[in-house]
Amino acid sequence: MSMSKSLTLSAVVAIGLSGAALAADAKNGLGQPPGLGQPITESDIKAWDITILPDGTNLPAGRGTAAAGAKIVAEKCAPCHGEGAKGGKNAALISDEPLKGRGIEANKTIKNFWANATTLYDYIRRAMPWPSPRTLSDQEVYDIVAFLLAGNKIIDENAVMDAKTLPQVKMPNRDNFIIKFPDRI
Ligand code: HEC
Repeated sequence: MSMSKSLTLSAVVAIGLSGAALAADAKNGLGQPPGLGQPITESDIKAWDITILPDGTNLPAGRGTAAAGAKIVAEKCAPCHGEGAKGGKNAALISDEPLKGRGIEANKTIKNFWANATTLYDYIRRAMPWPSPRTLSDQEVYDIVAFLLAGNKIIDENAVMDAKTLPQVKMPNRDNFIIKFPDRI
């Protein structure tokens, strides 16, 4: 038998054997999914489905004011973002600094850089207060957002922020952003 023929033959034998092994596995329940975990429920998905689009899609119910936000910020944000959120060991959330520098070096603050007020809601609800994200109620987030926007003089001190008014807030640097797929948001 030539070398190549014997190789071919052993390959055929090997395939035959593994086929038999697979059939046996299927009979024993092997080769099936491991049966770990459990089907995901609607409420599981809901807990993660918190993305708010720039136009305000998915904003929850609730309404917030700067006055109520001031108390929450003093308690939960000031330890890192400084008194009145004007800067501490972490970023100033209220600042009149104009945008200086380029790229990663630029001093990007909420007022001089963020394109959409709705992103503030999304970000704070999903990521802050560090290190306990997702501990703020939807209502508290509206209050904080109202406080930060009023402190940055983007909205009136008494303006009420809710699912209708927040998307209407125009951020100062909004027009310098190019929306790549405007029809998708
Ligand atoms: C234990 C510290 C800590 C606490 C408390 C905290 N943050 Fe932060 N925050 C950070 C860090 C770290 C970052 C990311 C780095 C940075 O921007 O300084 C950040 C970033 C942010 C940003 C983005 C700033 C920017 O311009 O990019 C916002 C907005 C923000 N935090 C809001 C809040 C709010 C609102 C609270 C209170 C509910 C809060 N944070 C509480 C540590 C904290």
